[in-house]
Amino acid sequence: MTARYRVSPGSSVSGRIRVPGDKSISHRSLMLGGLASGATEVTGFLSSADCLATLEAQRRMGVTVEQLGPHHLRVHGVGAKGLQAPDGVLDMGNAGTAIRLFMGLLAGQPFGSTLTGDASLRKRPMERVAGPLRLMGAHIETTEGKPPVRIHPVSRLNAIDYALPMASAQVKSAILLAALRAEGTTHVTEPAPTRDHTERMLEAFGVSLRREPGQVWLTGGQPLTGTPISVPGDISSAAFFLVAGAIAGQAGFTIENVGINPTRTGVIDILKLMGADIRLHPRDASGAEPTADIEVRASNLKGIHVPEELVPLAIDEFPVLFIAAACAEGETIVSGAEELRVKESDRLAVMAEGLKRLGIPHELQPDGIRIQGGHRFQGGTIDSHGDHRIAMAFSVASLRADGEILVEDVENVGTSFPGFVDVARAAGLSVEPA
Ligand code: S3P
Repeated sequence: MTARYRVSPGSSVSGRIRVPGDKSISHRSLMLGGLASGATEVTGFLSSADCLATLEAQRRMGVTVEQLGPHHLRVHGVGAKGLQAPDGVLDMGNAGTAIRLFMGLLAGQPFGSTLTGDASLRKRPMERVAGPLRLMGAHIETTEGKPPVRIHPVSRLNAIDYALPMASAQVKSAILLAALRAEGTTHVTEPAPTRDHTERMLEAFGVSLRREPGQVWLTGGQPLTGTPISVPGDISSAAFFLVAGAIAGQAGFTIENVGINPTRTGVIDILKLMGADIRLHPRDASGAEPTADIEVRASNLKGIHVPEELVPLAIDEFPVLFIAAACAEGETIVSGAEELRVKESDRLAVMAEGLKRLGIPHELQPDGIRIQGGHRFQGGTIDSHGDHRIAMAFSVASLRADGEILVEDVENVGTSFPGFVDVARAAGLSVEPA
């Protein structure tokens, strides 16, 4: 039997909590730290299954990573030409960011490599990355568009001018990592701004980029120099508690030290449009990534049509935003969100199935959903389909539930949020492993 959560109906959340480090930034700290010359000390690192897959892959290619504490690493970079051929297939587990960014990083190497992942990752599209990398001269084969991915050695890559067909930070980042090894200046245009952690971190490592909204230029051949990296709390993990607070937060409920990079704060903007009472107390704007303590208290939420330009800026937060929508007065409409269908699960279909189980009326659309809010959740059993964010989202629903919610297939919560049960219990949720 798979691991489950038993979540009892609860009333409120309170106090001050912290969430683990940012997953996107943690992956990138290992990848760029490995390519740099000198050491990179990383604090606040997310020691989750996804990031540990990246760490293990780096070690297998000759990068030494010292573990100085549970969330404190020292990465000894091997320099631009120092990576070694791995001794076998690199298994990225559930991590889409790891496989796609490594495709870019390995595309221009003089050795071959094969990348694969778990059953969920092996269903996810990789041609969106392989396509532009081939235009740069990479020799890459996917398996009917999916992992395993075989990368053959090449002697050089050339710069490209590429317009992304979809808003994807992973595709943009893979191209930028390949561009570091390419001759000439690569130019990437995105249809809408997406998270810019790669660009910010490259600059921290001494790479010069030209940036305009939705566009970036990078000239190949620039060296990276090791630099300290402080990883903030992950706003995608904080999101579960932002919604918990918006539906059941007592005054003073605060999530401390959360990354508030403007390319990640769509969840705050959307909740505020719904009428949430969210207050940001800025902490530190001096590093590459700004942080804040975020205070949120219960208010009467109302349904909205989520502005489509906010979708890429909140792309990982929709599962729990659908829980907020179910609690809000009136209808919430999400459109232009077809990317949700190719995440760790088909998040539109899996959330719709769960909302139905808990008695929430909704209409699933090809690119979104319409949710009729103003309801309490009835108790029931949810199949998370092995998707960490679905499992955590339905745990939050318990705050407005009339019966017990049993969430099945929750092992993968550890891919992004080790210790979720402890943090949730500290906030006031009645969740326990079952
Ligand atoms: C990520 C980008 C997003 C996001 C994922 C992490 C990243 O994926 O959903 O969780 O770290 O670059 P896409 O690029 O597929 O939108």
